[in-house]
Amino acid sequence: MPAIHWDGERHELHAGETVLDGLSRNGVAVPNSCRAGVCQSCLLRASSGHVPATAQVGLKPALIEQGYFLACVCKPSEDLIVEAPGTGVRSAARLIATSRLSDTVIRVLLESDEPLDHRAGQYLTLFRPDGLGRSYSIASLPTEQTLELHIRLIPNGQMSSWLATTAQPGEMLSTQGPAGDCFYTAGAPDQPLLLAGTGTGLAPLYGILRDALHQDHRGPIRLYHGALNEAGLYLVPELEALAKLHPQLEYRPTLLHTHGPLPDCILKDQPKLNGWRGFVCGDPQIVTQLKKRLFLAGMASRDIHSDAFATAAPAS
Ligand code: FES
Repeated sequence: MPAIHWDGERHELHAGETVLDGLSRNGVAVPNSCRAGVCQSCLLRASSGHVPATAQVGLKPALIEQGYFLACVCKPSEDLIVEAPGTGVRSAARLIATSRLSDTVIRVLLESDEPLDHRAGQYLTLFRPDGLGRSYSIASLPTEQTLELHIRLIPNGQMSSWLATTAQPGEMLSTQGPAGDCFYTAGAPDQPLLLAGTGTGLAPLYGILRDALHQDHRGPIRLYHGALNEAGLYLVPELEALAKLHPQLEYRPTLLHTHGPLPDCILKDQPKLNGWRGFVCGDPQIVTQLKKRLFLAGMASRDIHSDAFATAAPAS
């Protein structure tokens, strides 16, 4: 079996095992989130050995040239000497502020040393000074000075609890990315848009919505934010204010315990979705259900965009 050489130690992989699984099994902490080759949080570099091309899909050519690969989908056929990403791959980011959006969600504002070439709705991986990393969607527009993230507070969650209780403004963190293709593209300003998500899935949707309005999207935009109860909804006044300002926007906060499953609520309002473009984010199970139901209601699969975490448990 091929082996991974990490920090002077040799770790043999089991048959069919990925580099991420093999290193984790041996106690090497590699940041990861989607475990599906999408979010790029598990980026590593092979300084020696052949990396399968399938482990480099979606990476920039400059990274591929330097031997970078995604550990969660890398099953090498020969030994690799592997190291953590170099400093050139990450950008320094200063914590500007954290604030509560609800009992369970905080807003984190960051300022990057170099402007991040991102689109609202993409995601980045945020690293603490000790190297712990988690991936989050970006709620801010490239034109805004600060990067905005919405982070769900998880009891004892290493990153979320630290950000909420310990980290202070001015703390230096780092970011890697952005990555992902769940964002608004101009070119069809009259197409109806459906934005639907639960929990902190609102973060990319909030960014995509404001990006679409910023780019003068004229067609109807319907935003559903689902939560089990009132306490799970956030940014309600901001979204109501946006809807007042932009008549093409309908904001529909949806209480799942009261109104029923999110896909049912959407399709009750709009049974046929031919010609619509959809963005679905949040709870992986609901995202999977939504994609299927939107497609069955007539939305073309090329018009259905989802965030990267539909296959993974949310990060803490
Ligand atoms: S790309 Fe590997 S964990 Fe997301």
